[in-house]
Amino acid sequence: MNTLVTGAAGFIGAAFCARLLARGGRVTGVDNFSDYYDVDLKRARLAQFQEHENFTFRQADITDRGAMEKLFGGKRFDAVAHFAAQAGVRYSLENPAAYVDTNIAGFGNIIENCRRAGVGHLLFASSSSVYGGGAKLPFSESEPVDRPLSPYAASKRANELMAHCYAHLYRLPCTGLRFFTVYGPWGRPDMAFFKFADLMLRGEPIPVYRRGELTRDFTYIDDAVEGALRALDAPPAADDASGGAPCRVYNLGNGREVRLRDYIRALENALGVKASWKMLPMQPGDVAATRADMRAFRAAFGFTPETSVEEGLAKFAEWYRAYRQPQ
Ligand SMILES: NC(=O)c1ccc[n+]([C@@H]2O[C@H](COP(=O)([O-])OP(=O)(O)OC[C@H]3O[C@@H](n4cnc5c(N)ncnc54)[C@H](O)[C@@H]3O)[C@@H](O)[C@H]2O)c1
Repeated sequence: MNTLVTGAAGFIGAAFCARLLARGGRVTGVDNFSDYYDVDLKRARLAQFQEHENFTFRQADITDRGAMEKLFGGKRFDAVAHFAAQAGVRYSLENPAAYVDTNIAGFGNIIENCRRAGVGHLLFASSSSVYGGGAKLPFSESEPVDRPLSPYAASKRANELMAHCYAHLYRLPCTGLRFFTVYGPWGRPDMAFFKFADLMLRGEPIPVYRRGELTRDFTYIDDAVEGALRALDAPPAADDASGGAPCRVYNLGNGREVRLRDYIRALENALGVKASWKMLPMQPGDVAATRADMRAFRAAFGFTPETSVEEGLAKFAEWYRAYRQPQ
């Protein structure tokens, strides 16, 4: 199986490439090494498999129409796993243009090339943030999601709508995965678990919003990758569940709510430090709680993430210490 993975130097994209290669697949990775966060970390992720004989890498921007046409023109991809994005809820309030460019125009480019090239399946990353503020817990795929609270959330919802449209018009099978706060080794330095680890080990206070009473459904990276792999292997049929279009959107979370304060305690234990907490009010654009209803995903793919935050953060802490160790 020949798969194009976008965002191949990213947190989830790189882990996904590694899994595809490990099971004998051929992979073309694309990434523009956006400088949203530490580019050395992106290069180090890629270095783990860059020399693999079944891996090809193209540095390119998904918003570049010519480059994407060339990429799709030269190879026949059985499937495309689209992880490239401008990620981050809070940064989307500062720089919405980056989200419009990469997440909306860039996605448009990818899906249009999938159509033209007759790709067998487009798997793409959506986000739990599409549920917005008013959704009932646990978040279910059957709930209306028309009240996003951030440009990031709106851009991800736009992807889901565009996917449905292409599936309906052109029979392009599309699967969107609404990821719920993915964490673990090789993670993203802009995310709380990574930032907290940096601050804790420097002995600086960590910012804790709303007294740590926010809750999140935290998903360990290996679980997120396992789920994504199962979804990649099973393109949706054009059935009644999607109004006759081969397009489905699924939650991919742990299905458990963990209070931020408990997550921080688990991270303190994993790193063996006691942090000083700086209490701050809730941030604009943030939601108070997330929890995935995993029934649809489990029914479709026979899998639900199980890794506990204690287990997952212990693995993150082990990786983090080794990675941050002065050479
Ligand atoms: N990590 C999470 O908790 C989480 C939660 C929900 C959704 N998601 C989604 O999952 C996907 C992967 O997230 P991640 O955490 O790995 O993020 P990431 O930022 O680590 O990975 C995204 C990659 O895309 C690349 N990229 C950005 N703009 C690009 C462009 N214009 N052209 C080519 N490459 C570009 C970046 O350089 C980066 O390597 C994203 O779509 C993200 O929105 C992630």
